[in-house]
Amino acid sequence: MLKGAIPTVPPLWLMRQAGRYLPEYRALRAEKGGFLALATDPVAAAEVTLQPIRRFGFDGAILFSDILMVPWALGQDLSFGVGDGPRLEPALMNHALNALERVPERLEPVYGTVRRVAAELPALNGGATTFLGFAGSPWTVATYMVAGKGSKDQGETRRVAYNDPGAFQALVDAIAAMTVEYLIAQADAGVEAVQLFDSWAGSLSPAQFERWVIAPNAAIVAALKAKRPDLLVIGFPKGAGGKLPAYARETGVDALGLDETVDPAWANSVLPEGMPVQGNLDPLALIAGGAELDRAVDRITAALAGRPHVFNLGHGILPDTPIAHVERLIAHVRRDR
Ligand code: CP3
Repeated sequence: MLKGAIPTVPPLWLMRQAGRYLPEYRALRAEKGGFLALATDPVAAAEVTLQPIRRFGFDGAILFSDILMVPWALGQDLSFGVGDGPRLEPALMNHALNALERVPERLEPVYGTVRRVAAELPALNGGATTFLGFAGSPWTVATYMVAGKGSKDQGETRRVAYNDPGAFQALVDAIAAMTVEYLIAQADAGVEAVQLFDSWAGSLSPAQFERWVIAPNAAIVAALKAKRPDLLVIGFPKGAGGKLPAYARETGVDALGLDETVDPAWANSVLPEGMPVQGNLDPLALIAGGAELDRAVDRITAALAGRPHVFNLGHGILPDTPIAHVERLIAHVRRDR
């Protein structure tokens, strides 16, 4: 499908499908003692990757890991507190990038997870599930590395990008280089496609978006394609809005993820003909459930009926999402038409 075919029922997976809305995830996380312990244990991480496939039979399995594994491999300390967001230390707003020491072997357990999932996945769903790897895009990853944590409007990082563009370019280049290495290794270990998450692409002005979103994503795609022409790349520049057509044309991604604020009919009319899109149900419509959920699904599938479409949310599934609503969504997307 990512290659351009248009089946009557769109394939379906959900961003953050391996996670806290699943009781079997919460149980394994408690047993392992935290997110990072889980993500660096290939046996456990492979199981978490497969949990939503076993339960729901999704058409895509996304590797269980995190976009912040790359800053960890670039030498920052990483921790995930309970009920608290992730922390990276030292924060680069008061520490030089070149004082960090790269530790690429921190990514090795992830490749172990990929090998295990790739070995087990063919036995599930009649072998029809696509295995997706991922990484964060440089701008989004940089916002965490600079602030040392999540931030409301990425203000610290936007300031650094204006005040010291040379140093910020060096950071973006370092993230991009590690990301290419990481994604090629994921592909070598068995993923079939990768998604680039640019979750905070929406906070940039047009010129900054060109420089810190389009340019680095284009460089990553070019480097990936040079080494693995067969590897499909989904770009997800969340919040890009009116800048989506430029992103689609200029980055070289094979498919485009749409967040829930994008009108799919508009996207269909402005995006390159035949380009596959993914999305874009509002995660809150999934929590609401019922007939309102069905209508929201129908609006999206109708608007995108003329182009290759992978059904997904517009952003990650929320921890308080009822399992029954996920089941209803799947049944509705897959109903006889
Ligand atoms: O999609 C999947 O199921 C695969 C795994 C995955 C995780 N994080 C696991 C995770 C993926 C693809 C991500 C991406 C990610 N991580 C993004 C980009 C997508 C997005 O949602 O915008 C970002 C910005 C992060 C950084 C991050 N990781 C934050 C801000 C947090 C804490 C808050 C939150 O949303 O949970 C995490 C932790 C995290 N990553 C969890 C999971 C399942 C929760 C950890 C826990 O169990 O407590």
